[in-house]
Amino acid sequence: MSNVYKRTHMCGVLNIGNVGQEVVLNGWVAKRRNLGGLIFVDLRDKTGITQITFDDQIPAELFEKADSLRSEYVIGIKGIVKERSAKNTNIPTGEIEVFANDLVIYSQADTPPIYIKDDDNVDENLRLKYRYLDLRKNKMQRNLTFRHQVTKLARDYFDECGFTEVETPMLIKSTPEGARDYLVPSRVYPGSFFALPQSPQLFKQLLMVGGTDRYMQIAKCFRDEDLRADRQPEFTQIDLEMSFVDMEDVIAVQEGFLKRVFGELMGVEIETPFLRLTWDEAMERYGSDKPDLRFGFELHCLNELAAGCEFKVFTDALEKGGDVRGICIDGGAEKFSRKEIDKLTDAVKDYGAKGMVWMKVGEGEINSSVNKFFSQEELARYAAEFEAKAGDLIFIVSDRKKVVFDSLGFLRREIARRLGLLDDKVFKLLWVTDFPLFEKDDETGELKAMHHPFTQPKLEEIPLLDTDPAAVKADAYDIVLNGVELGGGSIRIHDKDLQAKMFDVLGLTKEECDEKFGFLIEAFKYGVPPHGGLAYGLDRLIMLLIGESSIRDVMAFPKNQNAQCLLCEAPAPVYEDQLADLGIQTK
Ligand code: AMO
Repeated sequence: MSNVYKRTHMCGVLNIGNVGQEVVLNGWVAKRRNLGGLIFVDLRDKTGITQITFDDQIPAELFEKADSLRSEYVIGIKGIVKERSAKNTNIPTGEIEVFANDLVIYSQADTPPIYIKDDDNVDENLRLKYRYLDLRKNKMQRNLTFRHQVTKLARDYFDECGFTEVETPMLIKSTPEGARDYLVPSRVYPGSFFALPQSPQLFKQLLMVGGTDRYMQIAKCFRDEDLRADRQPEFTQIDLEMSFVDMEDVIAVQEGFLKRVFGELMGVEIETPFLRLTWDEAMERYGSDKPDLRFGFELHCLNELAAGCEFKVFTDALEKGGDVRGICIDGGAEKFSRKEIDKLTDAVKDYGAKGMVWMKVGEGEINSSVNKFFSQEELARYAAEFEAKAGDLIFIVSDRKKVVFDSLGFLRREIARRLGLLDDKVFKLLWVTDFPLFEKDDETGELKAMHHPFTQPKLEEIPLLDTDPAAVKADAYDIVLNGVELGGGSIRIHDKDLQAKMFDVLGLTKEECDEKFGFLIEAFKYGVPPHGGLAYGLDRLIMLLIGESSIRDVMAFPKNQNAQCLLCEAPAPVYEDQLADLGIQTK
């Protein structure tokens, strides 16, 4: 016995070709209208909506039952497909309607706290609390389906390329990805903790030692870090590792993958090989290691021009080893008022800049915030450096290199946003290569690994590890799409002496190394292939492909901005006896 009316079709598929057929549909009541002798119900499932019509030809009892329907009731109907007299060209099923001759109500529904409507502007926290209702929206189901298609394609593609999907554990020892760990207390070993993986990094390297040759995984990762629109505490990577490869091999496989994703799922032909910039070039030209190439506004270095000028702000920065750099906005002079320029100046202060110089290029005259320090001839030389023409607007920042890059990198993006240049139908992919091996810790000034400590230095630069480690570049690469870091990876060190050297430069003692990743070092004693890999942020990839502005919209059950699951109300306190089992006391 079954209490389900077996459907013959989904709600979004019926069309004029089905006219005359008897069909069974299941779904949710999206809308019900009673026009006296006629009741119209819009029936919804994940594929779309069909109009169901109950007319006065059906038994009064059935008509009454139809009249009792309310929004979000779950029902099944049987009926005959007919051509509509008033067609609705806005929906694929708009040429037909189904005249119902039977109705089963599976469940009733209270009035939902949010509208089930794509463009509903409801507070996101409410959407997340009632995510199961939010997911009924057409757009959300489309997003989930698209995500499924991308992961399916990833599995198929990497399978064809000889990769094996392997699951790695969730309860592990801390991984060195640089964020804070989520910890899980052990009951069996009170006072000891597992960490949830920030990525499967060490395990995928161990798989290479284990002879797996090529590994892939759709992997859950956990990082306790400040959240943004493209960051979640719990996110998914397409994680990859390959044996006996160099950077070119890794890149070639990835370009093949992205070409397939764009070609098959987006209908967009992308050219390979992708553009490449070294990290130095990306910073010099765009002030960012994830430049958005959908617009110009490249940075220009003005150090030579500024040397020896009257304006102390510029010369001070240069004397301290800093930079003077600027960007030029085509036709920007008219588009940005003094008030707006003041707001932008305030905004770059978040990136450490103490101020910003602006110049509006006019016909034969340049108006600027520094007119009293520079003659018109001098200002004209700055304009010439940018090949600026009348109507253009120039912004200049002078400070430490990092502040200059961060400020102008932000400014480029912000101005492009304000000028409406961020077209989400345009896809600009590039590789950023040759990352620095180390970066200085802002607080301690000590060197730390920019990627992770197993990243291989550029082989020709290994001697610099002894003399000028901060200058050493790495065999590390990021794939960038429209200003977002889509993925990153590196070739790993497989030489134990080089690895020891690396730890040495990082100031790690043998005890610290053993404590942190002794098991990897131990494994490397027993024969390790040269290897390297990469991981994509799957959520970010989906977000960019479908033009969403937050990764939360491409995840079924994301955390909110405050790292909470509003749906199940986690994190939450636990019972005293659970804590006692774990030997944990809370303050
Ligand atoms: P990385 O730390 O660069 O590299 O991460 C790879 C990609 O994962 C995505 N990502 C995130 N997405 C959403 N929320 C987050 N909090 C978040 N953090 C990272 C980004 C990023 O490019 N083990 C290395 C990979 C390797 O070397 O093979 C790693 O995890 O898109």
